[in-house]
Amino acid sequence: MSDAMTDPAFATFGSGGAEPYARALRRDDQMLYLRDVDSDSLTPSRAMDVSRWNDEADAADLGLLEGIHGAVLDIGCGPGRMVRAAMHRGLTALGIDVSETAVEIARESGLMVLNRSVFERLPREGLWGAALLVDGNIGIGGDPSVLLERCGELIAVDGVIVVEVHAEPLRDHMYDGTVVNISGHQSDAFPWAEIGETALIHRAMRIGLRLVQSWEIDGRFFCRLARAT
Ligand SMILES: C[S@@+](CC[C@H](N)C(=O)[O-])C[C@H]1O[C@@H](n2cnc3c(N)ncnc32)[C@H](O)[C@@H]1O
Repeated sequence: MSDAMTDPAFATFGSGGAEPYARALRRDDQMLYLRDVDSDSLTPSRAMDVSRWNDEADAADLGLLEGIHGAVLDIGCGPGRMVRAAMHRGLTALGIDVSETAVEIARESGLMVLNRSVFERLPREGLWGAALLVDGNIGIGGDPSVLLERCGELIAVDGVIVVEVHAEPLRDHMYDGTVVNISGHQSDAFPWAEIGETALIHRAMRIGLRLVQSWEIDGRFFCRLARAT
């Protein structure tokens, strides 16, 4: 595992610099643009509307909880809409996030969240019914295989990992990203990744995971993974 995954001094999604992610979470400039720092293109890799993360879960979000029976761990939970949605379904749910602002907001609304990295020691390791990696969170740490392996340690023998994937199935891009808002507030560079369904399946197979289901809803693409044996 690289230092960027274990050392809290390293930048993570949208942090550092002028803190555009923390600003967006506090409802200032909620459109964020993710860019590859080495790309010459002025077109961002992804536009993200943080108001959706601050909002209630929508139909696509609720759909990914279908068929989940055990306790849910939302990795990179932000302000916690998936934690709230899981709780409303009667599921035990915990969110984890390295953003202090996100954790504060989630706690203000009474949600169970920890200010901790997925790569640190977590409660109930090996017992989670589902680990969620939504809103592009398969990018956390910058190496999807390392993150999937970590999720494999976290879930129960019959647990699942739900991954929101890139629209292009073959996409498998690891890069240093930066987040910027419309006012030009930019974060430090942080390791990130984007991966589509086919590329995800290949990586998953190499570490003893298999695809159980994949679906598309509202232009978003999801895969459900479980242990191969
Ligand atoms: C693309 S945003 C997704 C937001 C989120 N799913 C929501 O509903 O608001 C990525 C999230 O992952 C968090 N994150 C980044 N690195 C992390 C890590 N190592 N462990 C846990 N969370 C992390 C960020 O702080 C951020 O909240």
